[in-house]
Amino acid sequence: MEEQKAIYGIIGNPLGHSLSPVMHNAAFQALDVDAEYKLFPLKEDQLDEFFKDLKKEDSPIFGLNVTVPYKEHVFQYMDRLSPLAEKIGAVNTIFISKNRELIGYNTDAPGFMAHLAELQFNTADKRIAILGAGGSTRAILTALCMIPERPRIIKIYNRTTSKVDELLSDLKVKINIDVVEPVISIDDLDIPGCDLLINTTSVGMSKEDPSLVEEDLLRPGMLVYDLIYNPPETPLLKFARNQGALTANGLGMLYYQGVMALQRWAETEIDESVKYQMRLALEEALGYE
Ligand code: ATR
Repeated sequence: MEEQKAIYGIIGNPLGHSLSPVMHNAAFQALDVDAEYKLFPLKEDQLDEFFKDLKKEDSPIFGLNVTVPYKEHVFQYMDRLSPLAEKIGAVNTIFISKNRELIGYNTDAPGFMAHLAELQFNTADKRIAILGAGGSTRAILTALCMIPERPRIIKIYNRTTSKVDELLSDLKVKINIDVVEPVISIDDLDIPGCDLLINTTSVGMSKEDPSLVEEDLLRPGMLVYDLIYNPPETPLLKFARNQGALTANGLGMLYYQGVMALQRWAETEIDESVKYQMRLALEEALGYE
């Protein structure tokens, strides 16, 4: 009898523009395994049934990613959580063992740090400014607070200031957030004095979007990191480039979190040649040169 194809996929809603299938199917092809990565655009009232089916012995699903709005919601279905997922309070990768045990991981945080390392940015004693206080900030901020190369200060601003307060009061019971300083205006971020500026907001995704930061606040020597990767250069990154700052978009973070998810599912390191195909697939899908 022919063996059933292994299924992997991503749950979230909406999922229309997810690049995870492109990246992971390129990996499966490079690994020459009979597996397929699918989109599972589930409504909230479909989650109970989906996770009930996932526990069945004959389920073909062996690994999942989770994206907005379910990264926190899926906690209740996990049999175990990695310590990091527990600290962040969000799961983006689910490993399913042979006996159908579900283990929740977070690869967003180490994915971001891996990209920073690739960019040769050492966080030790650096001044960091963060725009936004959504799900991505939660992962990134946790990573930046836990890394041994401790930043000097991390200032954080969000349009809705109460969200920063909620985020910090949640994180402070689990990790040391002494270096974090919430501010109530963009000016208070002291952008000209920072070494790393991170935009985690969605401002820049639409063509009409402005840059939240004025061009003359940016300068050479700083790294401006925009989590947005489509378009590849947001107005913020364009300003940063004009001013001679280093720039990076979020494609690297997407790639590294994907590699780390795949390594969880495969329970082994992935060859550089396979990783190369994953990154190439992402860049091709986005029409990067
Ligand atoms: P993600 O998981 O990608 O972080 P999210 O949790 O939806 O996404 O967070 C979106 C972030 O973009 C939030 O910080 C949001 O600010 P609010 O908390 O005030 O909503 C921010 N954001 C979205 N649109 C914005 C805008 N027009 N101006 C400023 N911030 C904006």
